[in-house]
Amino acid sequence: MSDIEAMKAQLVGDIAAAADLDTLEGLRVATLGKAGSVTALLKTMGSLSTEERKTRGPEIHGLREAVTAALADKKASLEAAALDAKLATETLDMTLPASARAAGSIHPVSQVMDEVAEIFADLGFAVATGPEIEDDWRNFTALNIPETHPARAMHDTFYFPEDRNGADGNRMLLRTHTSPVQVRTMMSETPPIRIIAPGRVYRSDSDATHTPMFHQVEGLVIDRGIHMGHLKWTLETFLKAFFERDDIVLRLRPSYFPFTEPSAEVDVGYKQEKGRRVVGGNGDAEGHAWMELLGSGMVNRHVIANCGLDPDEYQGFAFGIGIDRIAMLKYGMDDLRAFFDGDLRWAAHYGFNPLSVPTLSGGISA
Ligand code: DAH
Repeated sequence: MSDIEAMKAQLVGDIAAAADLDTLEGLRVATLGKAGSVTALLKTMGSLSTEERKTRGPEIHGLREAVTAALADKKASLEAAALDAKLATETLDMTLPASARAAGSIHPVSQVMDEVAEIFADLGFAVATGPEIEDDWRNFTALNIPETHPARAMHDTFYFPEDRNGADGNRMLLRTHTSPVQVRTMMSETPPIRIIAPGRVYRSDSDATHTPMFHQVEGLVIDRGIHMGHLKWTLETFLKAFFERDDIVLRLRPSYFPFTEPSAEVDVGYKQEKGRRVVGGNGDAEGHAWMELLGSGMVNRHVIANCGLDPDEYQGFAFGIGIDRIAMLKYGMDDLRAFFDGDLRWAAHYGFNPLSVPTLSGGISA
């Protein structure tokens, strides 16, 4: 065996025996480093005679390749072993319950939206959505609120400048209610339709019970033979589940909305207890009173026709509820503005555990 072959066997053996990455790095420097033994041999190549270069040349190159490959192999196996050792000591039990100190909580508005969706899902309603930047046709015109209608002025609408009009020339605005989702749903789906549409709405209005942005949930049912009995039963069933009590009494009071005919405002009986309104009981009973909770009615046949359905074939009911308002009522907050202040102390006090999702079986707000 030549001296170079012997050196190769020695170095490859040393590399294979290296116990750790530091030793291996030492061997790399000692062989392939600037002053390394293999590097030194490579440097002698220039001074070899043509004859020597023919035999020693390939041997020296073979030595460098063998050492380089042995170093790479050993490095990979030492790194894999180091990772295995690390994984064996650093255990993470994914089945442990999350820390009770988990930061962050679910905002009451999100909680109530989840509760509402859960209750209506059980009644067969899907959740529909629409854009917050809406056009005036879907927000007003299609809902039977023509340009000259006083309801347009009543909505304190935030309009976009006219140079931002939609492709079809419609004026753009921040939707003033979730009712345009009714229009979008009737135009894109065929009955039977059963949807709720929770979301943000905007009106230029601000005091203790009004903020420029607030939340509503719209309900819409379109099918054959729908009547007000269906509306009343649905609302009663929803409110009993939402307030988690059976003694919910409703009063349907004749009202007017352009998009429903007939229209009814729905009042619920309540009692003042410790400075707080507690829902339940007949509003006409001793110590009780009525409070307005939501707007509703049978979908106006003009609206059904505007959305491309035949009002002689299809009827339906709709309702709109203020989410912030029912959240305040259920969970006892008295200033709506605090909902949107972003105060962490308020969020910690009124917020909900992110890990407890509302379910009917588990108790809706348990
Ligand atoms: N869109 C109404 C509002 O914002 C609420 C409403 C009333 C919605 C009656 C309805 C309804 O769907 O039938 O004041």
